[in-house]
Amino acid sequence: MRKKIVAGNWKMNNDKAETSALIKGLKRSIKKLPLKNTRVIIAPSYLSLSSAVKKTKDTPIEVAAQNMHQAKSGAYTGEISADMLKSIGVKTVIIGHSERREYFCETDELLAAKLDAVLANDMEAIFCFGEKLEERKKEDHLLEVGSQLKNSLFHLKPADFKSIILAYEPVWAIGTGETASPEQAQEMHAFVRTVIGKKFGLEVADSVSILYGGSVKPANAEEIFSKPDVDGGLIGGAALQVEDFTAIIKAI
Ligand code: PGA
Repeated sequence: MRKKIVAGNWKMNNDKAETSALIKGLKRSIKKLPLKNTRVIIAPSYLSLSSAVKKTKDTPIEVAAQNMHQAKSGAYTGEISADMLKSIGVKTVIIGHSERREYFCETDELLAAKLDAVLANDMEAIFCFGEKLEERKKEDHLLEVGSQLKNSLFHLKPADFKSIILAYEPVWAIGTGETASPEQAQEMHAFVRTVIGKKFGLEVADSVSILYGGSVKPANAEEIFSKPDVDGGLIGGAALQVEDFTAIIKAI
């Protein structure tokens, strides 16, 4: 059975005290939930990762990084390597978020190299992809997503997908309050599963978790999560509130 996953991408939010308060609240509210087949992941800023790992020890909450450099070490001012993340107990990394693609010029090729570094270090990636509004309007969304998947994933081996979570995030729905309809999400998720199946085999396609991200809120989570190919969500804004994030986990 595919894992259900709710992951919170905190982006550049929450200082030390806010991080502590949010984790404290989440620990308390998650304790009461029957999580069964569901993983709960939070991705605080680099600065808070170490304390987040310590604070969530012996709880169901897992901690991920929002980004990682592809090199092992070296003269890359301001960057963080796989070894550094592993040394503080972080094993999961978000790769290819549209904000990284757009504001930090991360290309499909660079993301392929980042995925290689994640896999070479026995870590796990939440790999994000999605079309922009112009592409959706031109009805090129499947073409665009197909090309992002091909450029960053097609060099991998089927076994690598044990360490990859996919996240469809239409750029026009991120932080805008506009969500893809459950039907739009299902259409894309089914398409992604087909693309993965054709290239890597049905077993891989059937077992890889595909999350939806883009203005998921307590009010729309249940409907989106009810779609057969939607295995959970990558949550931005609503992951910053204990009540909202908990309600979204409950909706899965
Ligand atoms: P949002 O962000 O939920 O605030 O739209 C989602 C994301 O960027 O992962």
